[in-house]
Amino acid sequence: MNTGERASARKDPKRVILFDTTLRDGEQCPGASMTVRQKLEIARQLARLGVDVIEAGFPAASPGDREAVWQIASEVQGPRIAALARCVEEDIEIAAKALQPAGKRARIHVFLATSPVHRQYKLAKAEDEIVELAVAHIRLAKQWVEDVEFSPEDGSRTERDFLVRVVEAAIEAGATTINIPDTVGCALPQEFAELVSYLLTRVPNIDQAVLSVHCHDDLGLAVANSLAALKSGARQVEGTINGIGERAGNAALEEIIMALKTRSDAFGGLYTGVCLKELVKTSRLVSRLSGLPVQRNKAIVGENAFAHGAGIHQDGILKRRETYEIMDPEEIGWGRTELPLTKHSGRAALEERMKQLGFQLTPEELAALFQRFKELGDKKKFVYDDDLVALMVENELSQLPETYRLEHLSVVSSTGALPTAAVRLRKGEEVWTEACVGDGAVDAAMKAIDRITGKRGDLLDYQVRAVSQGKDALGEVMIKVDFGEGCVITARAASTDVLEASARAYLNAVNRALFWQSSCTGTSAVTAP
Ligand code: KIV
Ligand code: ZN
Repeated sequence: MNTGERASARKDPKRVILFDTTLRDGEQCPGASMTVRQKLEIARQLARLGVDVIEAGFPAASPGDREAVWQIASEVQGPRIAALARCVEEDIEIAAKALQPAGKRARIHVFLATSPVHRQYKLAKAEDEIVELAVAHIRLAKQWVEDVEFSPEDGSRTERDFLVRVVEAAIEAGATTINIPDTVGCALPQEFAELVSYLLTRVPNIDQAVLSVHCHDDLGLAVANSLAALKSGARQVEGTINGIGERAGNAALEEIIMALKTRSDAFGGLYTGVCLKELVKTSRLVSRLSGLPVQRNKAIVGENAFAHGAGIHQDGILKRRETYEIMDPEEIGWGRTELPLTKHSGRAALEERMKQLGFQLTPEELAALFQRFKELGDKKKFVYDDDLVALMVENELSQLPETYRLEHLSVVSSTGALPTAAVRLRKGEEVWTEACVGDGAVDAAMKAIDRITGKRGDLLDYQVRAVSQGKDALGEVMIKVDFGEGCVITARAASTDVLEASARAYLNAVNRALFWQSSCTGTSAVTAP
């Protein structure tokens, strides 16, 4: 769908606008973090999926977000590109500048809390001041872009009459979309539907804006609340792929899309503009790049979503699919599994498979990945899609200048004795070797790395998982390390040897910390895989 078609779709009263915030609210999910490059890959896939708006980040929050918004605005065609801003002059200017390459497709998303608890304790501002602030900053945003969205944060806990007042003033000031967030996920479907109806009938100028909703999943009701709001007349819905997001997450877009499609009868024919075939692929890409696995029994995109265990069900399905399936798995992209690659597969096959997985590689990236692929192919009979993504994620590190590289690791560990690790690191022409004992083998390897690099990190989180199938599966290690002064880095690495993966993940974190600290002085907290 091109921009013209999207615009006319917006005028169709049955067309639901999909606002994807995977890269902004989704990335706020504890444990998730993506590089600029990974965000760009996800944004490209979201455009292929056909969402209408991509919220690419919160540019004032970090240089990484600024860069991501700029890159996505420059390179991703089709959807509108949104950036979040507080009611702060500097935020709006930074957002507007990051969005510049998107031209007319740029949207500034301004938010300000309106509920009594936020007004009193967080902002210490009276109602009048809140309205003034919102109006002034929407006007300011309008000086940069035509398309301005306003969110009264904690809208669902705001007094209705005050909410009406704020929304009316926001539209008067030029907001073209009004988004009602259930920020703390406390709403119930019927109550939230009534709130939407209330606004639609009580805000005098509501016809001059699109009414949107943004639900969090603290009570497991984000999708139900979003659907109830759409039924009540909201026409934009915000959410994330796989429902990732702050705390319990945001409304899962794939569930909203499929509920509207499957139960169109109950929603009076509401529809979205997505390409359903891209749904599963999008979910997988987000999961792989964010490092957040999708639970097996997750609706629509979980491994078990279309798996039938009971004999009676299997029998029914064989006789007629509709006996136990309300959706056609093929329609949403659950297809034939691709054959895994092997060490005999060539560069062209690798490039083609990466393209199918949603990655556009430069010739240099392909060359580096091909080398790692061949090394892995020597250790493992089959190289699966997940192995390739794990290599790809790690390979990105090679784009950092002047990084330490692990040349050698040996670990001695036996019952009753403290484990010892010896590491050899290289940076350019220089090589260092160190050995340390530790509480465990991983601890010993990290201490040896600390001694060489001079950085000392405290491990906040450590997780290991099998990336693909078989006894020779790659083990992927994800770690979160605190280097002090607000520098918290998440990083990962994969190897058939989990000790090596642990050392490489830690070294990735050290390299990132050194890189970020040298290039973004003033950044208070950074996360990067
Ligand atoms: O949950 C929330 O209130 C938000 C706003 C910034 C829209 O994410
Ligand atoms: Zn949110």
